[in-house]
Amino acid sequence: MLQRGGSAVDGAIAALLCTSVVNPQSMGLGGGAIFTVMNSSGDVQIISSRETVPKLFKPDLLKSCPKKFRFMSGPEWIGVPGEIRGYELAHRLYGKLPWATLFQPTIKLAREGLQISPLLEKYIPVINKSLSVYKLFSDANGKPLTTGDIIKFEKLADTLEVIANYGANAFYSGTIAKDLISDIQEAGGTLTLQDLASFRASQSDAWVFPFQDFEVYIPPPPAGGALLALLLNIMKGYKSDANEKTLAYHRYIEAFKFVNGLRKYIHDPNITPDKITKSFIQDRFADHIRTLISDRTHGEKYYNLTSYLDSMGTTHMSVLAEDGSAVSVTSTINHLFGSQILSPKTGIILNNQISDFCGRTEIHAGEQPPSSVSPAVLKSQSRMLLIGASGGSFITTGIASTLMNHLFFGKSLKEAIESPVVFVNSVNQPQFEEKFDQKIIDGLIAFGHKYDPKKMVFFNVVNAVEKDGDCICAVSDARKMGKAAGY
Ligand SMILES: *[C@@H]1O[C@H](CO)[C@@H](O)[C@H](O)[C@H]1NC(C)=O
Ligand SMILES: *[C@@H]1O[C@H](CO)[C@@H](O)[C@H](O)[C@H]1NC(C)=O
Ligand SMILES: *[C@@H]1O[C@H](CO)[C@@H](O)[C@H](O)[C@H]1NC(C)=O
Repeated sequence: MLQRGGSAVDGAIAALLCTSVVNPQSMGLGGGAIFTVMNSSGDVQIISSRETVPKLFKPDLLKSCPKKFRFMSGPEWIGVPGEIRGYELAHRLYGKLPWATLFQPTIKLAREGLQISPLLEKYIPVINKSLSVYKLFSDANGKPLTTGDIIKFEKLADTLEVIANYGANAFYSGTIAKDLISDIQEAGGTLTLQDLASFRASQSDAWVFPFQDFEVYIPPPPAGGALLALLLNIMKGYKSDANEKTLAYHRYIEAFKFVNGLRKYIHDPNITPDKITKSFIQDRFADHIRTLISDRTHGEKYYNLTSYLDSMGTTHMSVLAEDGSAVSVTSTINHLFGSQILSPKTGIILNNQISDFCGRTEIHAGEQPPSSVSPAVLKSQSRMLLIGASGGSFITTGIASTLMNHLFFGKSLKEAIESPVVFVNSVNQPQFEEKFDQKIIDGLIAFGHKYDPKKMVFFNVVNAVEKDGDCICAVSDARKMGKAAGY
């Protein structure tokens, strides 16, 4: 798409559509996306099409939230899909190629079929066999598909073709809407045609904070940009000394615990007036948190942690085009295979985004759930860095660790992304990725940290593009077997 003269947004939309069949467990038409877009003169805007709570929802839904992470399948967690409205708005503002052109390669791929990847093979067994999505990923004998098997998405190809030819309205009020809603209702969901018809994507200014000589552009709440900003603002106040890595990680874990404690303030600002999160991106607030971080750990109360559920899933894409336009976009159906509900008539896999409210006390019709998603654009006089991550609650640590390793400790972008991370989970317990330096772990135990020794099942996946003068470097995280591409 870029070689045909498309903008970064054109490239991103085409690649997102393609990802919806290559990694259908992560994102697709049944989900939502948040774009951070820079146009060729350097202006940055946010486009959000995160899902919303349908008008009719179970009033006591949050009572059925589990205490610990599990795949929350089922129709009650389906939010109103925003993905296509997001593409429509992004394309209207920034697209250069015809809308239908962006869909054509994926329509062909979906219709002709593609091989199951080793990554997808690994995830298919999590599907609940009694839920409708399993049919798509199993053979005639009910056995899960494995690497190399051909999977076709014929219904989805038809749906994509209609959207390509007739635009987003075909999804939100046309025949696709009717089919989708009747399938969701048949599966026991409450979405209505009115929910779809009234869905709007939004455009807004990015939030900006300084980091080294960069300006960092992030999406405001309900996205997780403010949490990333706070973590980075706390860390930038420490002198980074590569010889004191254990101390640096101790501070990082402590900072992360406060960030987790403040996560409860991330809301949809259209529903809950937001008085505090703007301070997260200001140095003064980070300075205050730094005064609370000492050379030891503290009890749970010290960090004001309110329990929530860790999350996982998602996909991220960073695209730089020849004209200088750039996109950092994160898209998701939430957990693996979302709600695990497939709409048989349209081939669309529905999200389970409403489960992101677990840990909260209220939900409202039309509300967007809080998120960790933080597609970022960093800009200085001579450099530009597009970065973002997938992995639910791992997103914050994925991006922050990469930026610190790259910008504080001088690792190359590739090494910075590859470096094993420490993640602080929803009960404020550190978890270390495999191959994390054992000497540092031992040192952290001496600081009083108790870590969760369980092997990390989920992980961060960072995709970044950096432009330094005339030199461009793009890295796709090997954790999800991705590769960067360019010409
Ligand atoms: C970029 O966006 C700004 C603000 O909307 C606008 O003034 C400018 O003309 C845009 N540049 C291009 C090349 O579209
Ligand atoms: C699978 O889905 C069925 C139907 O919704 C449900 O009754 C069952 O509890 C689910 N199984 C698991 C392991 O979640
Ligand atoms: C924790 O909560 C107390 C009581 O509401 C408040 O005074 C304090 O500022 C909070 N600390 C943080 C770091 O949020």
